Amino acid sequence: MKFLITGAAGFIGSALANMLVKGGHAVIGIDDLSTGKADTLSKEVVLHQGDVNDRKLLWSLLQDVDCVYHLAAKVVVPDSILYPREYNTVNVGGTVTLMEAMRDMRVKRVVLASSGAIYGNQPQQPVKETAVPNPRSPYAVSKLAAEYYTHSIGSLWGIETVCLRIFNAYGPNQQLPGTHPPVIPYFLRQAHQNATIVIHGDGNQTRDYIFIDDVVEGLISASSAKEVDRQTINLGSGRETSVRNLARLIIEISGKQPEIITNVRNDGGPTRMMADLTLAREKLNFHPRTPLEIGLEITYETDPRIRAV
Ligand SMILES: NC(=O)c1ccc[n+]([C@@H]2O[C@H](COP(=O)([O-])OP(=O)(O)OC[C@H]3O[C@@H](n4cnc5c(N)ncnc54)[C@H](O)[C@@H]3O)[C@@H](O)[C@H]2O)c1
Repeated sequence: MKFLITGAAGFIGSALANMLVKGGHAVIGIDDLSTGKADTLSKEVVLHQGDVNDRKLLWSLLQDVDCVYHLAAKVVVPDSILYPREYNTVNVGGTVTLMEAMRDMRVKRVVLASSGAIYGNQPQQPVKETAVPNPRSPYAVSKLAAEYYTHSIGSLWGIETVCLRIFNAYGPNQQLPGTHPPVIPYFLRQAHQNATIVIHGDGNQTRDYIFIDDVVEGLISASSAKEVDRQTINLGSGRETSVRNLARLIIEISGKQPEIITNVRNDGGPTRMMADLTLAREKLNFHPRTPLEIGLEITYETDPRIRAV
């Protein structure tokens, strides 16, 4: 098959692109390289540097493409609180531009990387796709709007659409910015350096951490699975871990003794997050295989940035 991946040079995009070319598929990528790194991609992936809002570029790249993976997005939740307009332009506007271009080029299917963040606080855990969304940030709103645009434009123009609500993905090559880094690479790096680990909130909030290989497997199933048109499906590990226990696990793996500080005045986000995987099992035959302990160890051992310094 021939795939176009938006955000191909990012954490999830590059892992997906590399796995698809390994499987013998043709893969074209588009990425503005705002956070993505071209050198994470294998040579067989044809990467175009450009903006997902550039319709003409999309037209040229969508020739004969069977399936699009839409991953390009701005992804830092606290940034979205400061710059909601940018998040709307890229995450929502970019999705609409892409759907329009796909309509024009008659692409068969699109798989959108949505987010578990759209759920916010939910009384029922594990959370099912039927829960009423409760987005707490412009980022979460932008992903929810992207889902609606994807499904609605898709149904109007006969494009098959699948939205996957990915929970907390982690693994080697995850972005590690200086401010607001994702929790796992941040904890791993701090632990390795014996530096203080700061937990936002009381640390009892839980998250569903899913290893990158499992995310890629779910994404790949979504491109060819039958009876997934117009579906919105959770992609998580199905296990919940408190942030405090995550820190303990990471310290154990590192063999170091960093100090843990809990900053209870900072918002720790939703109280609980755990994906219900019933629909993912049924529609995608999705069975996450990497336990958190193993995924953390792989990340610690193989991501050179964590051991830098
Ligand atoms: N990592 C997670 O835990 C997680 C969880 C839920 C959903 N997601 C979704 O998965 C997707 C990929 O996330 P990620 O973690 O790999 O983040 P990432 O930042 O590594 O990847 C996003 C990529 O999009 C590119 N990009 C940003 N703006 C662009 C634009 N205007 N035009 C073209 N490219 C642009 C960036 O350069 C980057 O390479 C995102 O849509 C994100 O919302 C991720």
